[in-house]
Amino acid sequence: MQHTTIEKSIPLMAILTLILVSIGGIVEIVPLFFIKGTIEKVEGMRPYTPLELKGRDIYIREGCYNCHSQMIRPFRDESERYGHYSLAAESMYDHPFQWGSKRTGPDLARIGGKYSNEWHKAHMLKPKNVVPESVMPAYPWLLENTLKADDIEKRMQVLAKVGVPYTEEQIKNAKTDLTAQASANADGSGLTQRYGAKVPKADFDGQPDRITELDALVAYLQMLGTLVDFSSQQATTR
Ligand code: HEC
Repeated sequence: MQHTTIEKSIPLMAILTLILVSIGGIVEIVPLFFIKGTIEKVEGMRPYTPLELKGRDIYIREGCYNCHSQMIRPFRDESERYGHYSLAAESMYDHPFQWGSKRTGPDLARIGGKYSNEWHKAHMLKPKNVVPESVMPAYPWLLENTLKADDIEKRMQVLAKVGVPYTEEQIKNAKTDLTAQASANADGSGLTQRYGAKVPKADFDGQPDRITELDALVAYLQMLGTLVDFSSQQATTR
């Protein structure tokens, strides 16, 4: 029997397995090259502001993704707890995406606006301050470290290369916009003009005289999941 021949020869078995798996792969992958878009266009999406982008870098640096996902699955229990399920478009400007694969803590895809900036500050300094049973580690250095943003234009240029639609003007004004967003009183007209009126602008860390890593991280957390307006839609699925 031919099967016996195949099963007795490891190289032959390996080659035939590889061919079989490749066919499966091609069937799944090739259609994606021919449809117009794999991501539906959704109103409200915009690239991260410079301050949010820096906050996102800190999120990655500190390994927050090891305990937090940013991907609400389309199941009823998830949308009742976290809000409308995540859309593909909502992570279209994320390189790399932060969907995560483990939830020691809750999903953060729609954390924006859930708590005040003061809550986030207290929580990041020592999670037990606000959630006594928390097992999340404390990140007190974020409030001390001055935010380093010398490379912000370069970061944006690189993202532009992989498809994030940053304009020349947004890149040129990166440092101005970053400073403006982190202070409650600075003139934010340029920032609003470049990123929209909904951009949260505040002294996120409660230290008006300096811009810290906490400013950036909280700015990032406060916008997560807030760009698309779901108010007219039903949040639940079956
Ligand atoms: C060791 C796992 C772990 C790590 C790492 C971790 N967290 Fe958490 N996080 C948790 C747990 C558990 C909770 C739930 C208890 C609480 O609110 O503190 C939580 C809660 C939160 C909440 C509140 C969520 C809500 O809906 O109430 C935010 C915001 C948050 N974490 C942000 C972060 C950020 C930002 C980082 C990285 C700087 C981070 N976490 C790192 C475990 C973790």
